Amino acid sequence: MEIEYKKMINAEVIRADHVYKTYDLGQIQVEALKGVNFSMKKGELVSLMGPSGSGKSTLFNIIGTMDTPTKGAVFVNGIDLSTMTELEKTRFRSEQIGFIFQFYNLIPVLSALENVILPIAALKKPGKQQVEAGFRALDMVGLKDRANHRPDELSGGEQQRVCIARSLINSPAIILADEPTGNLDQETGKTILALFKKLNEDNHQSFLIITHDPAVAAQTSRTLYIEDGVIIQDSKIDVSSIDASAISIVDRAVTFIKAEDNVAGKISLPDLARKLSVEEDRVEQIVERILRRNLLTGHIEGDYLVMKKGGLERR
Ligand SMILES: Nc1ncnc2c1ncn2[C@@H]1O[C@H](COP(=O)(O)OP(=O)(O)OP(=O)(O)O)[C@@H](O)[C@H]1O
Ligand SMILES: [Mg+2]
Repeated sequence: MEIEYKKMINAEVIRADHVYKTYDLGQIQVEALKGVNFSMKKGELVSLMGPSGSGKSTLFNIIGTMDTPTKGAVFVNGIDLSTMTELEKTRFRSEQIGFIFQFYNLIPVLSALENVILPIAALKKPGKQQVEAGFRALDMVGLKDRANHRPDELSGGEQQRVCIARSLINSPAIILADEPTGNLDQETGKTILALFKKLNEDNHQSFLIITHDPAVAAQTSRTLYIEDGVIIQDSKIDVSSIDASAISIVDRAVTFIKAEDNVAGKISLPDLARKLSVEEDRVEQIVERILRRNLLTGHIEGDYLVMKKGGLERR
């Protein structure tokens, strides 16, 4: 029994093996993923951070079987996703993957309860067991008394909790949340994270959460950092010991550097300070620390932050 249990808790819920994804747009090819490697054990609560366009959602779509890699393999619960037929994928998606999005994706004409049981009652009149399961899921997110409310009768945080209940309904192997707090105020975001943590601790529910918010990442037990289609950092980043805003500052710096009108591929620290409304010497200190920790590859050249990573520097 104990061996079985150990085997279970050591099992991998996700393994990505040299995953590449190239979007072929005819004239140009976009290399969204360039060899992503990582694995995640059952029961882990992991965050995924990285600048806009670094490949986070692309990776999610592949793990969620909504897209396929150009090269490489992804395993969910030990199953090689490339071996599945479309029909098997559809079934796998509804039973093994829970999705949570920034903009909720609830059906406006359905009640909270109906939305929650949709994955198990599609197109059928829900049975007693399904309704009970729906109430249980709503109870887990503290919304049992809102079961008959429609989405427009709920606050943003409540709508997100309905989505969480919906994602829980099948006890999926993994819940993928793409910026679940991106549309919420900080306080409400915190309660959503607290809920993830509770579900993780009480039910060993595995989560992979995309976020731009270092405060959200700090709540998870491990953070993957993806840049330009490659995972460049995989660890428990003690965000609080760096600076609560440091990662998002660099994150935004990369966005400025990649901007269409930035021909030079670099940004001066005073400019960055101005754009971010942060004191100048503070920006330098933060950037330096982040570079030293290899969260990003680049260097400070005089007054400029220069990113070295392929594709970031424009010529
Ligand atoms: N369907 C698609 N066709 C072509 N290019 C795409 C497609 N989807 C994504 N891309 C490109 O792939 C790269 C990675 O995009 P992705 O959506 O994964 O980024 P992201 O990290 O989720 O960014 P954000 O934080 O802004 O959501 C980007 O350069 C994007 O323009
Ligand atoms: Mg995205």
